Amino acid sequence: MVAKTDRGLCGCSISPMNHKEPNVAPTVVNLSNKLDLFTERWSPKVIAQVDDFQFKLAKLEGEFVWHSHPETDEVFIVLAGQLRIDFRDEPVTLQTGEMLVVPAGVEHKPVAESACHVMLLVREGTVNTGNAPENQLTTDSSQWI
Ligand code: NI
Repeated sequence: MVAKTDRGLCGCSISPMNHKEPNVAPTVVNLSNKLDLFTERWSPKVIAQVDDFQFKLAKLEGEFVWHSHPETDEVFIVLAGQLRIDFRDEPVTLQTGEMLVVPAGVEHKPVAESACHVMLLVREGTVNTGNAPENQLTTDSSQWI
């Protein structure tokens, strides 16, 4: 990946991350192939970037921790399996093919009774455990695959 401080191919001073390079060919990302590249649970991997937001794939199983993301909305798109997301008032259950936007600052706790594959959309730099104290589920969520 190009460092943020590098100049764009066109030589202008706009960071490549915030600049649509005219010479970069669109790249097909195959979600199934990307999912085959890892087995860890609760460890989101970056597969694409759109402006300041990143698409991430994750495999979830079991209970996560209560947390919120004060700086970003978080989108959950369920690719396989079923995902319950607990909120302080009442839980929401997502089936395969369903998505949900968790607004910034709203406390949530994902729970997957059995293995579940999801695609997430969050602002670049978002830590998976949000504002919760760092714990054994906190991972480097900036890893690309
Ligand atoms: Ni979250």
